[in-house]
Amino acid sequence: MRILAIESSCDESAAAVLDADRGLLGHEVFSQIELHRVFGGVVPELASRDHVRKLLPLVRSVLEQAGTTSSDINGVAYTAGPGLIGALLTGASLARSLAYAWGVPSLGVHHLEGHLLAPLLEPEPPPFPHVALLVSGGHTMLIEVSTIGCYRLLGETRDDAAGEAFDKTAKLLGLPYPGGPELARLADRGTPGVFNFPRPMLDRPGLEFSFSGLKTAVVHALRGREITDTVRADVAEAVQLSIVETLTAKALRALEETGLDTLVVSGGVSANRLLRSRLAEAARREGARVYYPRIEFCTDNAAMIAVAGLARLAAGQHDGLDIQARARWPLESLQPLTAQV
Ligand SMILES: Nc1ncnc2c1ncn2[C@@H]1O[C@H](COP(=O)(O)OP(=O)(O)OP(=O)(O)O)[C@@H](O)[C@H]1O
Ligand SMILES: [Mg+2]
Repeated sequence: MRILAIESSCDESAAAVLDADRGLLGHEVFSQIELHRVFGGVVPELASRDHVRKLLPLVRSVLEQAGTTSSDINGVAYTAGPGLIGALLTGASLARSLAYAWGVPSLGVHHLEGHLLAPLLEPEPPPFPHVALLVSGGHTMLIEVSTIGCYRLLGETRDDAAGEAFDKTAKLLGLPYPGGPELARLADRGTPGVFNFPRPMLDRPGLEFSFSGLKTAVVHALRGREITDTVRADVAEAVQLSIVETLTAKALRALEETGLDTLVVSGGVSANRLLRSRLAEAARREGARVYYPRIEFCTDNAAMIAVAGLARLAAGQHDGLDIQARARWPLESLQPLTAQV
């Protein structure tokens, strides 16, 4: 079985071709960062319009990369939510139209299931069951993953997501959008210990997160100071450490509470180098193993949508002729797959 997948939930347009036997045959991502940068964040209407321009050329390009024609495609998967509704509809209507024209089934994929299953593309995929730490621009969740589609939420953020905390504090430091990777780069030049920000909710039991207080802490720290490059680097260092130590401690707590010894980390923030090294150290101490997607598949892409789509289409699931697009979509409402892919 060979499928085409399309991602358009936010500000990345992406397409991929995945073959059940031969693996990933082609994938491309077009990032709209430049388009939104002047506004300091994603402008939904501009995002939708740009997806309309970019998606079809991306589909042509990945089919060519894969050395495949439409007649070899057995299904089309697309991101059906959660995300920006206009942006989702562009991908959904293109995917549904192609599936109709080619006479193959189509399936709306949950974006977060895509993030969760992205590490399955790696040569050494994680075993099930495992604990997943999903840390992206919109979500921070600890999830017990029994099998594909069987997700039990252990804890999540009460306010800002980890990626959002990176982005918003980066903005306070005057860094360009999206601030996460920029703040991480700046943090490398900071001196540890100059600033010390809270590790929210670490002193309480449970697996919930809260990152919104970090913005206020940074505003207070900067008040009345001359904001030199050194100060910005020192603040960046302390912000990154606060987020990373909080995520690491809660991820370990989740392993302990579930009795599992495999941790999967995915979503944009899983690209963070300090997070990876802290988790590696902690896992070594505890005798656990940590799995990640490769760096390019941490942030939004269509390869991860293809993995989730292929698993579900191969199990016989597909949608009807209507277009599925949901701004909100609880992960726990997904149908578990009985057959392992
Ligand atoms: N190296 C890094 N360090 C810290 N944060 C990073 C790094 N690289 C990316 N990020 C953050 O990851 C986020 C983007 O990740 P992703 O594309 O998975 O999120 P999203 O798709 O916008 O959100 P969601 O998947 O929840 O809808 C941004 O907040 C970005 O700042
Ligand atoms: Mg995402």
